[in-house]
Amino acid sequence: MKVLGILGSPRVGGNSDILLREALRGAREAGAEVEKVVLAKKKISGCLDCTKCNETGVCVIKDDMPKLHRKILEADAIIHSVPLYFWAMTSQMKAYLDRWCAFFDANWEWHKAYAPKMKGKKIGLITVCGDRDPSTSDPIVFSFKKTCEFTGLRLLGIVKASASRKGEVEGNDRYKKQAYVLGKKAAAV
Ligand SMILES: Cc1cc2nc3c(=O)[nH]c(=O)nc-3n(C[C@H](O)[C@H](O)[C@H](O)COP(=O)(O)O)c2cc1C
Repeated sequence: MKVLGILGSPRVGGNSDILLREALRGAREAGAEVEKVVLAKKKISGCLDCTKCNETGVCVIKDDMPKLHRKILEADAIIHSVPLYFWAMTSQMKAYLDRWCAFFDANWEWHKAYAPKMKGKKIGLITVCGDRDPSTSDPIVFSFKKTCEFTGLRLLGIVKASASRKGEVEGNDRYKKQAYVLGKKAAAV
């Protein structure tokens, strides 16, 4: 069982990172092999909508994303952790998500070669916003929910946290537990 953690915050050691750490700890303790990718440390450009991948299943942009495509394919579950920036996901997470385009054909069906690995793949989401109401992050939740519904990914669970200062969430056992449980769930068969 492989669980991939995707950090969408550029603030390493920040709130999304702490909650992702807890989720991956839950997955590891449930027996999974875990890996974390910090998107801000990777070179990931925006999708060009050149449609070349519709035929080939391979993205023409030569950056760090093709390597990440392979990690996505190999993972049994992927947990995304991302803060809210101006009522949306961060640019790092958006660029990453848009580049999932490479997995689809012209009809937005999984490419035949990828379908067996992608259909039903488990997806987890952790959001953090500075606002005291964690539901302020709902635009991110909407984006992931719709993507999962549309493509047949399995949305395992969502943790919505509120925290502002770097590392503030470390003191919140409730959010940390929720993230840990999400990680455990991601590692379950
Ligand atoms: C550019 C930027 C935009 C932000 N926009 C929002 C926002 O629209 N709503 C909100 O509640 N918090 C907003 N925040 C606050 C972050 O979501 C909050 O500080 C969060 O804890 C950051 O998570 P991190 O530590 O994982 O980076 C913004 C922060 C930055 C840097």
